[in-house]
Amino acid sequence: MQIAKTRDVLRNAVDALRPQGAGRIALVPTMGALHEGHLTLVRRAREQADHVVASIFVNPKQFGANEDLGAYPRQLAADAAMLEAEGCALLWAPTVEEMYPPSFVTNVSVAGVSDGLCGAARPGHFDGVATVVCKLFNQVQPDIALFGEKDFQQLAIIRAMARDLDLIRPHVDAIIGVPTVREADGLAMSSRNRYLSPEQREQAAALPRAMRTAIAGLESGAPVADTLAALEADVVAAGFASVDYAVLADAASLTPLSALGAGPARLLVAGRIGGTRLIDNMAVNGSQG
Ligand code: PAF
Repeated sequence: MQIAKTRDVLRNAVDALRPQGAGRIALVPTMGALHEGHLTLVRRAREQADHVVASIFVNPKQFGANEDLGAYPRQLAADAAMLEAEGCALLWAPTVEEMYPPSFVTNVSVAGVSDGLCGAARPGHFDGVATVVCKLFNQVQPDIALFGEKDFQQLAIIRAMARDLDLIRPHVDAIIGVPTVREADGLAMSSRNRYLSPEQREQAAALPRAMRTAIAGLESGAPVADTLAALEADVVAAGFASVDYAVLADAASLTPLSALGAGPARLLVAGRIGGTRLIDNMAVNGSQG
């Protein structure tokens, strides 16, 4: 597996993978600190393309001033070994200066779908995500790109951006969401789980448990507001410091729903345990994922 750290090396390496434009390239964008969830993305990518390009870039633009940019785990050599073992052809691992030279002034902002949920709690976060993913798409020029459904709002934003800016053809279908990979006790895999103490790690499993209970209630007709309030209370009773949001939303637009309708819906929750913010989401009403 080749590791490209500059755009020139990347361009030549992508051209070499796809002589005369032949062969499909899948991109798996990551911030490193890889776990089974990321490796699942690579495996799905290999099933759907001839070559997999992964990127590792801890993107400063998506971290707020009081967030964990400095502490975010960086383990390039270990991550590269995992990607190579999964059959990844090329790793794009630019420096911050390569991605954002001093002259860089552009911001990509996706209105509406970025505003609520994590967008409300983390101002600017999704602009940072959209900006870097737009650059990654242009740099690698993949045929498809794969993202975990764990970051469900991020996935919706990237789909909207790809559609609006004609980034990958055929746009929406080229952005593939892969179901969340979970630990044995149901906790969604995340690079941030490593910040949890053993006690917090045990308490964290209350989040998916409370979500499953809430979904069973919603699907058997329980009122949405009461169900979400009970979910929040359960999670806090289990040891979470707070719940940023617990929302039932339309699965496509992420517009909050006050009642379950016939269409696919999604339960999305963010909570804080110690200093760590965990997010999760699950399908409601027979929707996928
Ligand atoms: O989901 C992530 O790891 C990041 O938000 C992404 C998509 C790689 C952009 O930095």
